[in-house]
Amino acid sequence: MRKMQQELDSVVGNVRLPSMNDRTKLVYTDATQTEVFRYRGSAPLTVPHKALRDTKLQGFRIQAGTVVLNNLYSVHMDPGYWGDPETFRPERFINHDGSFRKDERVIPFGKGRRSCLGESLARMTTFLLFSSLMQHFTFSLDPAIPVTNTDGKMGFTLSPPEFKVFAQARL
Ligand code: HEM
Repeated sequence: MRKMQQELDSVVGNVRLPSMNDRTKLVYTDATQTEVFRYRGSAPLTVPHKALRDTKLQGFRIQAGTVVLNNLYSVHMDPGYWGDPETFRPERFINHDGSFRKDERVIPFGKGRRSCLGESLARMTTFLLFSSLMQHFTFSLDPAIPVTNTDGKMGFTLSPPEFKVFAQARL
């Protein structure tokens, strides 16, 4: 949060809100949002799809008509690829030269022809909301209600456990 706030202060300042034009310069903020999408994306599974024909995938036979859901969570949490998937580490999306590192293994909106129709809109709105909140407030947890479990609650979507935060105005 502090690193994002430093970045927002220097790139955006405090007299206007962040805009999409700032995004390429807000590398740490972008990397943090990407890490949120990877670490606890709100859609761990895709919507159900149906195999149109008999298919063989990674040694598994999938019969035509089988309902298939893709496990995005397993892609985001693959220790063989990420090394330390359970560590929240935005730096994994930043190159040595300080630029943003896009990673094809981050697929919070699914992949392919039936991926999320609202992806561009969702990426824009989450970025603008997230960066504006970080610009305006410093968040802290209520020490009386410690968060002991960050796994989230799994319904069809993944939602946060009960939590209480204080938002202190910075501007
Ligand atoms: C952060 C917000 C969002 C996330 C993480 C998200 C994620 C997803 C995922 C994982 C899928 C399933 C893709 C697949 O089956 O392969 C999906 C499908 C879909 N999403 Fe989103 N979504 C978000 C916001 C939105 C918004 C804002 C809209 C509409 C304005 C939207 C509209 C749709 C539609 C219509 C589908 C079905 C696409 C199809 O089956 O062809 N989503 N979304």
